[in-house]
Amino acid sequence: MKIYKAKDYQDMSRKAANIISAQVITKPDCVLGLATGSTPEGMYAQLVEWYKKGDLDFSEVKSVNLDEYRGMTRDNDQSYYYFMHKHLFDHVNIDPANTHLPNGIAEDPQEECIRYENQIKSMGGVDLQLLGMGHNGHIGFNEPGDEFTKMTNCVDLQESTIEANKRFFASADDVPKQAYTMGIGTIMRAKRVLLMVSGEDKAETLAKALCGPITPKVPASVLQLHNDVVVVADEAALSAM
Ligand code: GLP
Repeated sequence: MKIYKAKDYQDMSRKAANIISAQVITKPDCVLGLATGSTPEGMYAQLVEWYKKGDLDFSEVKSVNLDEYRGMTRDNDQSYYYFMHKHLFDHVNIDPANTHLPNGIAEDPQEECIRYENQIKSMGGVDLQLLGMGHNGHIGFNEPGDEFTKMTNCVDLQESTIEANKRFFASADDVPKQAYTMGIGTIMRAKRVLLMVSGEDKAETLAKALCGPITPKVPASVLQLHNDVVVVADEAALSAM
C-alpha cells in the first residue's frame, strides 16, 4: 500500500487526478471504476480541466460506477447517474454507451445485482477502482457488518449513512433507504485501487482502516489485503496515524 499525503483537499484532488490521468494515458481503453460523493468532486473538476486543455482523451475509456441509490430515477439530481454526468461524463469525450451504473429502478433487485456483476466481468474487470470512504468505514455502500460481501448487492443503508447523506436531500426521510453497490469482492478484484480521503472527521476511521485489524466492521480495512492500493489523503485525514 502506498500512502500519499496531500496538503489539503485541492492538493488531494490534483494528486488523485494525476493517478487517473496516468492510467488513461498508459491504457487508453482502460476500465475505470468510478465513485461519487463530495470527496472526488474536485478530482473530476481537475480531469475536466486537463481534458479541455487537450491533455486527456476518454474516447476509448470505459467506466463502471461503484453504487447507486435504489428507487431513484436517472433524472433525479441526487442519483449517482446524474452526479456522474454533471461532474464528468457531460464534459469529456467519453462515449455514454461505455459508461455503466447500477439501474436504480430495476424491477428485480436480485437480477440487477447479477446483471451488473456480469457487466463488469464482460468488460474484463476494473483496471483502476476509485474509492471514497464513509465515516463508518464503508466503501461503495458496503456498510459495517459481520462479513465481507462478495458481489454486487442491494443493501439497507445504516442510520449513520442516511444522516451523513441527508445534507443533499430536503430531509433524512427523503434519503433512499437502500442502494446497489459493488461488493467488497468486486472491489478487491480490481487490478488497482485508489482510495481518496479528506478531512479530520474521517481521521480515526482511516487510521483503523489502514492500520487496525482487518474486519468487516470497518469495511475499508479489507484494502490491506489488496496488492496494489494507493491512498491519497489530506493531512487532516491522516492526522490520527
Ligand atoms: C456515500 C457513497 C460512497 C462515498 C461516501 C463518502 O455513501 N456511497 O461511495 O465514498 O458516501 O462520501 P463523501 O465523499 O461525500 O464523504
